[in-house]
Amino acid sequence: MHNFIFSVPTTVYFGKGQLTSLSKAMHPLGTKVLVVTGRGSTIRNGILAKVKCALSDFQLTELSGVDPNPRVTTVRKGVELCREKGIEVILAVGGGSVIDCAKAIAAGVYYDGDPWNMVLNSAKGSITKALPVCTVLTLAATGSEMDGAAVISNVDTNEKFTMLSPLLIPKVSIMDPEFTYSVPAPQTAAGSADILSHIMEVYFGDENTYMTDRISEALMKTVIRFAPVAMTRPDDYEARANLMWASSWAINGLTAAGKAHDWSCHYIEHELSAFYDITHGVGLAIITPQWMRYILNEKTLDKFSAFARNVWGIDGSLPKYEQAKRGIEELENFFRLLKLPNKLSSLGIDDRHFAEMAEHANKTTGIGSASYVPLSSKSIENILKMCL
Ligand code: NZQ
Ligand code: ZN
Repeated sequence: MHNFIFSVPTTVYFGKGQLTSLSKAMHPLGTKVLVVTGRGSTIRNGILAKVKCALSDFQLTELSGVDPNPRVTTVRKGVELCREKGIEVILAVGGGSVIDCAKAIAAGVYYDGDPWNMVLNSAKGSITKALPVCTVLTLAATGSEMDGAAVISNVDTNEKFTMLSPLLIPKVSIMDPEFTYSVPAPQTAAGSADILSHIMEVYFGDENTYMTDRISEALMKTVIRFAPVAMTRPDDYEARANLMWASSWAINGLTAAGKAHDWSCHYIEHELSAFYDITHGVGLAIITPQWMRYILNEKTLDKFSAFARNVWGIDGSLPKYEQAKRGIEELENFFRLLKLPNKLSSLGIDDRHFAEMAEHANKTTGIGSASYVPLSSKSIENILKMCL
């Protein structure tokens, strides 16, 4: 196990009615608030009205219309608003896209230059300060409510980048599972695929993290158990609560502590959503089984067969390659059960940009020199072709 620092300074208020804690939790951070929302779900399901009521003693400025796969253009708009209104704290009310946009705005306020340059250069220290971000989570998926990442898209350049900094970790997150009752089944499925992928991206890494690998298996089983329930019974509290809490723990640093890992499927998917604006979890559900097939070899066999046995209950007396293959098939069956697409062609995507995407993913993300299974541009292109 490698050395690590583990710090998650988000105060989580989890459960029914926890919105009543928001005002008290936010007061120490400031009273001039930018409330960031998406394209209308929080109006339709009444959550925004409840938030405004809970913050009646705050001075609220609204920024609505954040797109899924949030755009840098909205970040620019938010930065201007914050400067103009002297905003002290940002509240994101929504899913990962809204939260990510809020985080980028929070850091953009202190960045001297175009926010897109800040997004591209977070690894080089472009984020030096950020306004505090709080969240009211409405969709279990990205874990953005408890992590230091923000993923922003630039449609002019077909690029989607992850910016990372501990300064972006939300200070307060309200997580009421009832707020996810209105998430439609396809979005519940995509969010669940995303949670599963976050766990798998880390699980398939170094071998020497016994404890966290067992936690990862429990988290994966949680998603596998409750995603189909939440799809058929959207107001099943236990299912929504388990998915919501699993989404945070999948990516808040616990499972990754002390472990080298690559995030290969995510980097490949981000190319797809940059070019085609597809739903992140849908892209991951298509890529992940094919990536597993591509990298199944002597080096990955032990972990792949452990995944098959410990997560899917595959018979351990079978030859290990057989176990591993059945584990991949079970994963595909699960995505099929969630009614997720399993081919890029079904989304209208063909191979015309694959070489460019593969080259870009290889050059900009580090998966070419990754620690578990490095992928050359040609390998990435081949995986994409397997997904057609
Ligand atoms: O825009 P609104 O109207 O709010 O509707 C959203 C959107 O259409 C809707 N929705 C959210 N909560 C709802 C709801 N509809 C009904 N009832 C509710 N309670 O769901 C749609 C998708 O929302 P979005 O926020 O885009 O989904 P998600 O949470 O999956 O976020 C996806 C974005 O996060 C990035 C992805 O790349 C993508 O851009 N990621 C962020 C990460 C992070 N910050 O750590 C890690 C992830 O790997 C991921 O890359
Ligand atoms: Zn993801």
